[in-house]
Amino acid sequence: MGRGLAVVTGASSGIGAATARLLAGDGREVVLVARRRERLEELAGEIAAAGGTAHVEPLDASDGDAVLDMAERVLRQLGTPHAIVNSAGAGEWRWIEDTPPADMGQMMGAPFGAAYNTTHAFMRAMLDAGRGVIVHVGSPASLAPWPSAVAYTASRWALRGMHEALCQDLAGTGVHSCHVVFSEVSSEYFEANPGSHEHIPKVGSTLLRTLTPERCAEVIRDTIARPRREVVHPVEMRALAWTNQVATPLVRTLARVTGRRRPQSE
Ligand SMILES: NC(=O)c1ccc[n+]([C@@H]2O[C@H](COP(=O)([O-])OP(=O)(O)OC[C@H]3O[C@@H](n4cnc5c(N)ncnc54)[C@H](OP(=O)(O)O)[C@@H]3O)[C@@H](O)[C@H]2O)c1
Repeated sequence: MGRGLAVVTGASSGIGAATARLLAGDGREVVLVARRRERLEELAGEIAAAGGTAHVEPLDASDGDAVLDMAERVLRQLGTPHAIVNSAGAGEWRWIEDTPPADMGQMMGAPFGAAYNTTHAFMRAMLDAGRGVIVHVGSPASLAPWPSAVAYTASRWALRGMHEALCQDLAGTGVHSCHVVFSEVSSEYFEANPGSHEHIPKVGSTLLRTLTPERCAEVIRDTIARPRREVVHPVEMRALAWTNQVATPLVRTLARVTGRRRPQSE
């Protein structure tokens, strides 16, 4: 097993970039995965200047063959990762009638497809090693959906579904699957996915604080060190998730009535 090796998808921006930077600062060798090569090279340069080691793997993680090729290179040259952070994700929040099937396919491609492909590609080696942690960066939408984000939400439920199924399969193997849910994060997400931010339901924007990618990275680092099935952050997000568990209709109604209305009814 590559000592302390971490593969981070979505490493060109936001939560993934901050996590890769933090893990590299801790002395882990990191593999940076995303589509934008120049962003990854910039981050790798920054990590190297700080005395760390980063390898860039520019690819579309929704492409299963590209991920398998990347994993083959990593396993051959660097060894088996100790940690995988599945943070690649995108998707505009839209009504289903405004989301053609091709766009839905792209949204399912990342985060869900990207996380599936990456987890699949390294799983046999991690099982053989008998240890490892896979962190999936999820969304509050996977706990309590709000209006006008159907394909986005479906991809996050698929991610959470994969994680829950993995937990069953991985019991007793030494490999852990962890689902991490954050409230809003001050990353480039809403610039990269325009028209989404105004769809946040008021119950979320009023009750939940906005996190920095750096704070999310600390939570992910802590999850790798102390794997848990589900990590919800910050505390008020945890309170909302707990309320959702014990009073689902209440949270469902709050998300709906404080959420986006169809344009014709505005
Ligand atoms: N921002 C929030 O408020 C928030 C809150 C909770 C959860 N999340 C979730 O956290 C995840 C990361 O979001 P973020 O805030 O870090 O957003 P971000 O700053 O936009 O970063 C998204 C990352 O995913 C990469 N990516 C997207 N599609 C990809 C693909 N097909 N293949 C490889 N890489 C891909 C992007 O890089 P390239 O474009 O270079 O490929 C980028 O590095 C998302 O799934 C998001 O839903 C975000």
